[in-house]
Amino acid sequence: MNFSKTLKELEQNHLYRQIKVADDRAVDFCSNDYLGLKNHPQVIAAFKSGADKYGVGAGASHLINGHTGAHQELEEALADYTGQQKALLFSTGYMANIGVFSALKSELDWVLQDKLNHASLIDANHLIGLPLQRYLHNNIGALESKIVKQTGQGLIATDGVFSMDGDRADIVAIATIAAKSSALVLQDDAHGFGVFASNIPQHSIYMATLGKAAGTMGAFVAGDADFIDFLAQKSRPYIYTTALAPALCVATLKSLELIKTGAQNDKLQSNIDFFQKLYKEFELPILSSNSAIMPLIIAGNQRVIKVAQTLLDKGFKVGAIRSPTVATGSERLRITLSAKHTHKQIQQLIEQIKNAL
Ligand SMILES: Cc1ncc(COP(=O)(O)O)c(C=O)c1O
Repeated sequence: MNFSKTLKELEQNHLYRQIKVADDRAVDFCSNDYLGLKNHPQVIAAFKSGADKYGVGAGASHLINGHTGAHQELEEALADYTGQQKALLFSTGYMANIGVFSALKSELDWVLQDKLNHASLIDANHLIGLPLQRYLHNNIGALESKIVKQTGQGLIATDGVFSMDGDRADIVAIATIAAKSSALVLQDDAHGFGVFASNIPQHSIYMATLGKAAGTMGAFVAGDADFIDFLAQKSRPYIYTTALAPALCVATLKSLELIKTGAQNDKLQSNIDFFQKLYKEFELPILSSNSAIMPLIIAGNQRVIKVAQTLLDKGFKVGAIRSPTVATGSERLRITLSAKHTHKQIQQLIEQIKNAL
């Protein structure tokens, strides 16, 4: 196999993905640490105390010997926080999505997914072996017209907050349509958890990651007790992998406690409001978003990389999202806001973007 030929082609097409050591000197506007909990002293202290109590690793999968008191406590706290009967931890959100699909493999006849769903939902669909059917982004009419053509048991999967556009799914409308054909609804709320109050229709499946607003790592699926019990029996990415480090569970319990106070979220909301006010003043081409994700369209892979590099040279790290991750012509800077940013940093970023454009 000629790997170097493929690598060269990627470089020529500006699609080569660089693995760079994170540069702490630049102001970070690209991480998903929306609430600034990743470096929160109380979360760090909790992580250390978890390591002191449990050691560094879980040592085994959940069903063998890896499910510690910290895992149990976190699952109960997440079920309580989301208002669901039970929750089940997974090592990552990517695995959780594959985990849900892998458990439902023999139960489903069809799956419909929003066109802009995250890669992990799409990959999970491919792995389950069902044909991937997609409906126009956030278009309830398009979803409805596809549902009526299906027969048997179905699943509708959607991001809660879309990872590249920052807009939100109309979960209530989706659940209402799904109910008419007894379809299951799977909501991936990776970017909404901790930022927005959870909006989980009855008897639906909710997945969220802990590596974003919670500032730690891992993911969970929450829902009705019988579904979660079924998941623990049938989900291969749950069964055949080492459980999350217990110290991460102790840290996440602290994150959850901090999320519940609302203080970090107030800071984030103030930054979102400030950013929205400024980008309108500066007339930047940002897609409308009320979440922490602010997409700024700069068509062309080469152009978007160039602007991101100019910003980095000025001390601001912003993600450059190229096609095919997003549609050709809609390449973008993905600016992520966090509770940890100051208004001054946001103002400086916007000024630098204006200059760079
Ligand atoms: C919508 C969405 N779902 C799932 C994932 C995967 O989560 P994790 O990073 O925990 O694997 C991500 C991002 O990474 C995401 O943006």
